[in-house]
Amino acid sequence: MMRHGINLKIAGTATAAGSAASGGALRAWIAAVAVLVLVVGALMPIGTASAAEVNVYSYRQPFLIKPLFDAFTRQTGVKVNVVFAPKGMVERIKREGRNSPADLILTVDIGRLHEAVQAGILQGVQTERLTGNVPAPYRHPEGLWYALTLRTRVAYASKERVQPGELKRYEDLATPHWKGRICMRSSQHVYNVGLLASMIAHHGEAAAEEWARGLLANQARKPQGNDRAQVRAVKEGECDLALGNHYYMGKMLQDKEQATWADAVRMVFPNQADRGAHINVSGAGVARYAPHKAQAVRLLEFLTDDLAQRMYAEQNFEYPVKAGVPWSGLLESWGKFTADDLPLVDVARNRALAIRIFDRVGFP
Ligand SMILES: [Fe+2]
Repeated sequence: MMRHGINLKIAGTATAAGSAASGGALRAWIAAVAVLVLVVGALMPIGTASAAEVNVYSYRQPFLIKPLFDAFTRQTGVKVNVVFAPKGMVERIKREGRNSPADLILTVDIGRLHEAVQAGILQGVQTERLTGNVPAPYRHPEGLWYALTLRTRVAYASKERVQPGELKRYEDLATPHWKGRICMRSSQHVYNVGLLASMIAHHGEAAAEEWARGLLANQARKPQGNDRAQVRAVKEGECDLALGNHYYMGKMLQDKEQATWADAVRMVFPNQADRGAHINVSGAGVARYAPHKAQAVRLLEFLTDDLAQRMYAEQNFEYPVKAGVPWSGLLESWGKFTADDLPLVDVARNRALAIRIFDRVGFP
């Protein structure tokens, strides 16, 4: 079926200001807003900000989220307490049960959001702002979670050994043309599980298993390392093509050594003539026993609004989930693309089967 990435296409084209928004202009704009918020805050009577607070449990690193929460506090007077929990967050909140101080849970990948759903640690919230800001494919139908940013899984193709147009679709990755030419991280990593889950949703179990088998047969080496390590392997000539999340291009460009890896590859957004590139997300949901539920909803809404969307997406080179929010200059430079609008709940639903398929075909 022909599907178009409604959201990303709109996001990339909607505003004239967007295309003009270079990183510098954006920073100046954010600074101006911050000053305005500070001035307004200073004029408010002391005491309005009294005891209001909200507790966020975050899988994301503090440097990514602190500027956002500072902006929220300036705007609302609500203090944000952050618990950074890169591992075992779901188990911890489950263990804390009804006494959990968690109000808002912030994480990455539909797999981890789905885990939180299954653990019963989230509650559904629906507001006009949330459903207006976050397109339906990228939020839970009952409001258990909302995507905040979008990321896509791209191919990083050697500039030297892969011709432009040589790879067009994820499906091609399993054809003999790529025999011994592909590098990727472990199949069991959430990013690869998500991709296979989307293949199941689009093609059914049998075809997805065939694809996994073909992809395994095309590996240049045993899967190892993270997404960026695959790009390094392309640079070093171990393989011609790597699979990785798109934002790693931005991260590599920020690092002197890794920038040379990035320079060796071209990003390929797959399936541009049909359903669009596979989409995954970072997202958040209100905790089931949130002691400060009203503030949690307020913060969640804030994170889906324009200011936070620009700041948050730019921090990690991700795409804003809200349509019409301008992209950073770097994202603009990578070009617009068609995004798969397969509902992420369909990806979530197929995750367990995807893991079994990777096991079945013996994919490390
Ligand atoms: Fe990542």
